[in-house]
Order: sequence, then C-alpha cells, then structure tokens
Amino acid sequence: MNIILLGPPGAGKGTQAARLVAERGMVQLSTGDMLRAAVKAATPVGLQAKAVMESGGLVSDDIVSGIIGEELDRLDAATGVIFDGYPRTAAQAQALDGLLSARGRSLDYVAELEVDEDALVERIVGRYTCAQCGAGYHDVFKLPKVAGVCDVCGSTAFKRRPDDNEETVRTRMAEYRAKTAPIIPLYEARGLVRRVDGMADMNAVGAAIAGILDA
Ligand code: AP5
Repeated sequence: MNIILLGPPGAGKGTQAARLVAERGMVQLSTGDMLRAAVKAATPVGLQAKAVMESGGLVSDDIVSGIIGEELDRLDAATGVIFDGYPRTAAQAQALDGLLSARGRSLDYVAELEVDEDALVERIVGRYTCAQCGAGYHDVFKLPKVAGVCDVCGSTAFKRRPDDNEETVRTRMAEYRAKTAPIIPLYEARGLVRRVDGMADMNAVGAAIAGILDA
C-alpha cells in the first residue's frame, strides 16, 4: 500500500507516519527529514536547501523528487510507503505519479489531516525531539514519561528545529495554502482523498487512519 499523508505544518503527518511504521512495518519517506539529514551532513543538496528551509520556503521540485526516486529504488517492491511532506506542489504530484508507475506502484489513498491553523503554531513551537533517536515530543501534548529522559532510548539530550519559530511557521503555512492545498482537488478527482480530523487526539487520529487503510 502506498499512501500520502497531507496537511499543513504541524498537522501531525510525522506523528502518524511514525505510528504506521511501528504498527504496520511501512516505510516513511519524509522529504523534510531527508533534507534535514542532508543539511546536517553538508552535502551539495543540503547546502542548497539550508537557507530555503530556514526561511520556510520550498526546496526545488527537482531536488525533492530526485531524493524520493532514490529512496524508492532502495525499497523492496512489496514494502508499503508513507509519503510524508511530499508531494507539496502540482509538479511534485506529477513527478510522483511517474516515479510510482516506473516502479510498478500506485497510490492507494491520500489522507488529508484537517486542522485549525491557529492551533498549529502552538503545536510547532512546542515540538522537540530526542537528539539521539529522533523520537518526537511536545511541551504540552506529549511529554516523556520521566521528565528529561527519552521514553525510547533513555537519552537526556533533546533538540528543536531551527524552522520551528512563529515567523517561519507562518511562511510555511502560506506556502502550504498557495502551493500544496491546490493539489488536493487533483487527487479528489481520482477518488483518492480521505479526510481525517487532525484536531482529535493523537490516538483518535491514528484510529481514523487505520480505518481508512483497513477499509
Ligand atoms: P517538513 O519537515 O515536511 O515540515 P512540515 O510539513 O512543515 O511539517 P512538520 O514536520 O512541521 O509537521 P507534521 O505535520 O509532521 O507534524 P508533527 O507530527 O511533527 O518540511 C520542513 C521544510 O523542508 C519545509 O518548510 C521545506 O523547506 C522543506 N521541504 C520538505 N519537503 C519538501 C518538499 N516536498 N518540497 C519542497 N520543500 C520541502 O506534529 C507537530 C507537533 O504536534 C508535535 O510536537 C506532535 O507531538 C504534536 N501533535 C501531533 N499530532 C497531534 C494531535 N493530534 N494533538 C496534539 N498534538 C499533536
């Protein structure tokens, strides 16, 4: 099964993708995570992407579609894929169709997380991750069980993303409205879109997505 998790910054795409990986053995392809790794490693792609990401703009379509193609080539044909943060433009949506069909894959669902934009700023500025294993937390919505200690790996080091500040989040949301939201009707016309209430608690959102996949 190949699915897209679609929604604005902070909608919960990464949170729900991590659940699907843990519960169903699917693979998460997050262009945001891949680009952050490239920035950290100072690769040529990372050097091009760094300033764009810090401003909240979008990295070029060719770069992100190229990365996705390389990642798909690493996967076994039977492995289910969750596209998280990709596609984000009409050109990327078109590229994804080509990348999938060239590999004998097709899209099953586009799960659109519907959220109230005002709540997203709170979600994003409160977000942090374990510096060692990447497990996600939130100052209010998801605290570690023992304060200051990662539930997953026991590390006491945490980090926050440089683009998780209010000003950049507003730019990221504007980019979503202008460039990503317009691709939803393209998938609607193909009967692929399933809407999920992204304002429900994380477990309820997970259950709704599971219901779509098991339908
Ligand atoms: P990317 O990393 O994709 O960021 P994003 O789309 O802005 O999404 P986020 O990761 O911020 O949010 P999310 O929906 O995953 O939310 P999360 O689950 O963490 O992209 C970053 C940048 O990279 C872009 O700005 C761009 O520059 C570049 N880029 C990436 N892909 C690109 C592409 N395809 N083309 C061009 N450029 C690209 O949840 C957020 C917080 O809320 C967490 O703390 C979580 O614990 C909490 N939370 C989650 N669900 C709930 C809930 N139901 N209730 C309460 N809290 C919740």
